[in-house]
Amino acid sequence: MTDQALSARIILITGAGSGMGRVMARAVAAAGATVAGVDVDSSGLDQLAREPVFRDRLRKIVADVSKAEDCRQAVADVQKTFGSLDVLINCAGISMAHAAPQPQARVKFFEADPAGWQRIIATNCIGAFLMARFAAPGMVARGWGRIINVTTSFDTMLAAGLSAYGASKAALEASCATWAKDLDGTGVTVNVLVPGGPTDTPGFFPPGMPRPPVLLDPQIMAVPIVWLASTQSDGVTASRFIARDWDIKLPPSEAAARVRAPAAWPDLAQAASAARGHAM
Ligand SMILES: NC(=O)c1ccc[n+]([C@@H]2O[C@H](COP(=O)([O-])OP(=O)(O)OC[C@H]3O[C@@H](n4cnc5c(N)ncnc54)[C@H](O)[C@@H]3O)[C@@H](O)[C@H]2O)c1
Repeated sequence: MTDQALSARIILITGAGSGMGRVMARAVAAAGATVAGVDVDSSGLDQLAREPVFRDRLRKIVADVSKAEDCRQAVADVQKTFGSLDVLINCAGISMAHAAPQPQARVKFFEADPAGWQRIIATNCIGAFLMARFAAPGMVARGWGRIINVTTSFDTMLAAGLSAYGASKAALEASCATWAKDLDGTGVTVNVLVPGGPTDTPGFFPPGMPRPPVLLDPQIMAVPIVWLASTQSDGVTASRFIARDWDIKLPPSEAAARVRAPAAWPDLAQAASAARGHAM
C-alpha cells in the first residue's frame, strides 16, 4: 500500500494515549489519515500530539469510554469538526490489575474488588459498544465504514485470575460477530485485531508488575491496522487477525488472507443451530 492509503479518512482511536493505541494512531497518521485520539488520560494525548507525524493535526478528545455521554460527545465532536467519522478503532482497555488489592496481574474472582471488576467490564466491553453505537449510524448513512475492536487471545479469555478481563474481551469478541450481522450489506465492516500474546505496554506491564518471559512489541499492530482501515479490506467483516502472525514482508492483502480467521466462535454457533435443526 502507498504511504497515503488512508488520505481523507477520519479515524477515531480510543486509548490513543498509550501502548497499542498510540502505535496505531501513529501508523494511520503516517498513512495519511486524520486522527482523533480519545483517552481518559490527557497527558498521553498531549505527548502524542507533539510527535512530528501528527504535525499538530491530532484532535485530542479527553473522554471516558465507559460513560455514554462522553462517547456520544466524542463522536459528535469528530463529525462536526471533520464532517464524518470513517473508522472507529476500539482500543481503550484496562487490565485485571484494576480489580486486584495490590499490584498484581491476576486475582481470583472471589477476592476481586467489586468496583474494579465492574470498571473493567464497563471500559473494555461497554465502552466499545457505546463508541460503536454512536459511530455506526453515520457510517451506515455514508455507505462505508470500519469498526475494529481490540480483544485478546482466546486462551486469555478463559484464564484463571482474569475473570473480568476475560469476560469483557469474550463479550467484545461476540459483539464483533453480532455487530457484523447487524451491519450486513451497509458497507460498514466489523473486525477484531489482537496482538497475539502479552504485549509490552505501559498500562499492562508497568514497572513492578511481573513480566512473562516473552513480551510482544506493540509495533506489530501498525501494518495490520492500516490495511484493516483501508479500502483494501472492503468486504472483509466478522473476521479476526492476529498481528503476531502477520508477515510484513508480504503485500498486506496477501498477509491478511493468510492470517484471517472468523471472529468469535461461529463453529460452535453453527453446531448449536445444527443440533436444534434451525438457526437463531
Ligand atoms: N498489553 C497486552 O498484553 C494486551 C494483550 C492483548 C490485548 N490487549 C488490549 O489492547 C488494548 C490496549 O492496551 P495496551 O496494552 O496498549 O494498554 P495501555 O494501558 O498502554 O493503553 C490503554 C489506554 O487506554 C486508556 N483508557 C483506559 N481506560 C479508559 C477509558 N475509560 N476511557 C478512555 N480511555 C481509557 C488508557 O488511559 C491508556 O492510554 C486494550 O484493550 C487491551 O485490553 C492488551
